[in-house]
Amino acid sequence: MKDKKNISKAHYCVLDDDQLFLKRAELKLTSNLKKNYCGSFVSTGIDAIDIAKKTPLTLFIVDIDLGTENGIDIFDKIKKITPQSRVIFITGDKKMMQDASLRKRALEEGGIDFITKPVEWTELTIKIRNNLELMSHQYWLEERVQERTNMLIHADRLATVGTMVSSIVHEVSTPLTFIKANQETCLYAWKKAEGKIENPEVIDMFEALIRPSLEDSLHGVLQIENLLASFRKFYKKEEKISQEDVVLVLKDVNTLTTYAIKKNNIIFTINNFLTDSFIVKCNKQELLQIITNILNNAIDALKDSSKTNRRLYLTLENDKLSRILIRISNNGPAIPKDKVEDIFEPFFTTKLEEAGTGLGLYIVRQILQKTGGDVHLENRTKEKPTVDFILTIPTVPQRR
Ligand SMILES: Nc1ncnc2c1ncn2[C@@H]1O[C@H](COP(=O)(O)OP(=O)(O)OP(=O)(O)O)[C@@H](O)[C@H]1O
Ligand SMILES: [Mg+2]
Repeated sequence: MKDKKNISKAHYCVLDDDQLFLKRAELKLTSNLKKNYCGSFVSTGIDAIDIAKKTPLTLFIVDIDLGTENGIDIFDKIKKITPQSRVIFITGDKKMMQDASLRKRALEEGGIDFITKPVEWTELTIKIRNNLELMSHQYWLEERVQERTNMLIHADRLATVGTMVSSIVHEVSTPLTFIKANQETCLYAWKKAEGKIENPEVIDMFEALIRPSLEDSLHGVLQIENLLASFRKFYKKEEKISQEDVVLVLKDVNTLTTYAIKKNNIIFTINNFLTDSFIVKCNKQELLQIITNILNNAIDALKDSSKTNRRLYLTLENDKLSRILIRISNNGPAIPKDKVEDIFEPFFTTKLEEAGTGLGLYIVRQILQKTGGDVHLENRTKEKPTVDFILTIPTVPQRR
């Protein structure tokens, strides 16, 4: 996300055919507005249009009577090129000042103010400054809206991929059931035939070749089934809140992340899940989603680091405040200090190339806060060489 301090500077441009007035305007306004804003001082419509093309965010101060040209018509052309331009009209002609229909037209054409000569320079300076600030702010907001709209479109696309994955899971599951059933039937048939077949060559071939091949294939099919089941849990829309054992959820998390962990040569250690009970009240699918999110972030951080000794740890703890702490740590680089505040904000991402949405941590926080828990970061320090994300979830007391 861009900082407000980076708002590009808005410009102002005075258009008047009266050279003396222009000189005076330049003298007064540049000294009053100092270095904060850039000003241009031009005497023809063509020059003003040129400025609009070069700096789209410009506040024009335009004399209505430009001799051979009309200031309102010129601004009409400018607006067509850069709709975000604004204008303050000036006139020194008494007749014009009293012409209500002309003033109305000037305002209808987008004029935000109407001032008369002789100009009160301090007042004009304040008007210019206020309007430039407003324009800059509006521009900044429009940019943010655009940026977030793009992100939402991307998030929506990812949701579509999710739907596609769930239909692939469904389509693959059916033939897999047949394959598994046929393999089991063959093994069952062989068991039944045991002792009835006398030909030693057939027995050898079966025991040495066919049985191991069938058993291997069955093992492979069971692995695919596990993976599909984990996918199904991940994408299933389930509103139900129930008592869940974090350890069981970790098994699905493991299936979903194993490939990325192995591919990136990461050593993954899970501590302490055999000795204690970790029961929480939550939505199982959401729990799966948040742990997977944090692990994927850690995998991304390690994958980008040049380290050869890439380590990832997951530790479960019960604390004194009846909460379960899930600590996910990696020995990748620290999160830069100036980004620490931003990472939980929606749409903040540094993964532009991988098309990250920047919604991961924000969603993790939303889900956890619903359960009365939260997530926080313990950054890497000299004393502690890991980046840790700690998820806290209230526990459900267990009867002994
Ligand atoms: N373990 C980590 N180590 C270093 N930086 C991290 C870690 N986890 C998160 N971050 C930083 O926080 C940012 C925001 O993370 P978040 O999960 O919200 O979005 P993302 O990972 O960028 O996008 P998406 O979750 O859609 O893939 C990341 O882009 C990254 O810069
Ligand atoms: Mg993420």
